[in-house]
Amino acid sequence: MRTTVVTGSASGIGRATTDLLRSRGQQVIGVDLHDADVVADLSTVHGRLELVRAVDALSHGRIDGVVANAGVAQDTPADVAVNFFGALATLEGLRPLLLGSPAPRAVLTACLAILMPSDQELVDLCLALDEPGALARAEKLVEAREGGVAYASSKVALCQWMRRHADADAWAGSGIPLNAVAPGVVESPMMARLLGTEFQQAQMEAEVPMPLNGFMTPAVPARLLAWLVSEENTHLCGQVVFVDGGAEVVIRRDTTWGAGRD
Ligand SMILES: NC(=O)c1ccc[n+]([C@@H]2O[C@H](COP(=O)([O-])OP(=O)(O)OC[C@H]3O[C@@H](n4cnc5c(N)ncnc54)[C@H](O)[C@@H]3O)[C@@H](O)[C@H]2O)c1
Repeated sequence: MRTTVVTGSASGIGRATTDLLRSRGQQVIGVDLHDADVVADLSTVHGRLELVRAVDALSHGRIDGVVANAGVAQDTPADVAVNFFGALATLEGLRPLLLGSPAPRAVLTACLAILMPSDQELVDLCLALDEPGALARAEKLVEAREGGVAYASSKVALCQWMRRHADADAWAGSGIPLNAVAPGVVESPMMARLLGTEFQQAQMEAEVPMPLNGFMTPAVPARLLAWLVSEENTHLCGQVVFVDGGAEVVIRRDTTWGAGRD
C-alpha cells in the first residue's frame, strides 16, 4: 500500500487530496495546524523539524509520495514563510524517506498567481534561502499595500526552485518526479473572503478568466495531484501544470515557446 504525506490536509485542496487517496485504499499522513495526523506549524523551524520527525516515526522511515500543499494567502510575510520556506522544508526534509520507495513521487501546489506581478528582490531572497531577509522584504511590500505581490512571489520562487532542482541527482536522478500544479480559482475556505459577494466574484472572474467551467471545487486539483504522485507518473518531470479552466491560455496565449532562431 502506498503512503503519501499531504500538507494542509485539514482543508480545501489538501483535504480533497487526502480523501481521494484514502478512498483509493492508500495510506495518507495528513499534516496541518489542527485536525491532522501530524500537527505542525510549517511557518516555524520547530514545526518543520516536527513534521520530519513525526512522519519518520509514523511511516517507519519509508513513504511513497509527498504533496507539499499547505499554504496561506493572507497577503502578509506569513505567505512567504509557509508557501515557500515551509514547502521547501517539506520536500527536502521528507526526500530521504522517499528513497526507500519503488515508485517515489513529489509535487507541490503553486498557483495561477505566478502569472501576476511579483517582486524580483523577494524571489531572489527566497532562492538564496535567506528567510529573515525574505520576510523583511515581504513586510515592506505589505507596508506598501502590495501584500498580493508577496503571495505571488512566494509561489514564483517555489516554481523556480522546483525547475532548478527537478533534474538533479536528488530528484530525477533518484527516480523521483518533482512537479507543481498551478490551480486557478478554487472554491476553498482560503478563497471565502475573496468570493463572498457577487461583486467580488465578478472581480475575480475578470482577474482570472476561466472559460472552461469557471471556478472549481478542491476535488479538481486533487485529482491532478493524486495522479502526479501515483505510480503512473513515470516521466512528467519539472513541470508546472496549470489546472485553471483555461486562464493560463487566456493570459499567456502563445508566449510560452517559440523563441525562434537568430
Ligand atoms: N483556493 C485557491 O483558489 C487556490 C488557487 C491556487 C493555489 N492555491 C494553493 O493551494 C494550497 C491549498 O490551499 P486551499 O485553497 O486548499 O486553502 P485552505 O485554506 O482551504 O487550506 C490550506 C490548509 O493549509 C493549512 N496551513 C496553513 N498554514 C499552515 C502552516 N503554517 N502549517 C501547516 N499547515 C498550514 C491550513 O490550516 C489549511 O488547512 C495553497 O498552497 C494555496 O496557495 C489555492
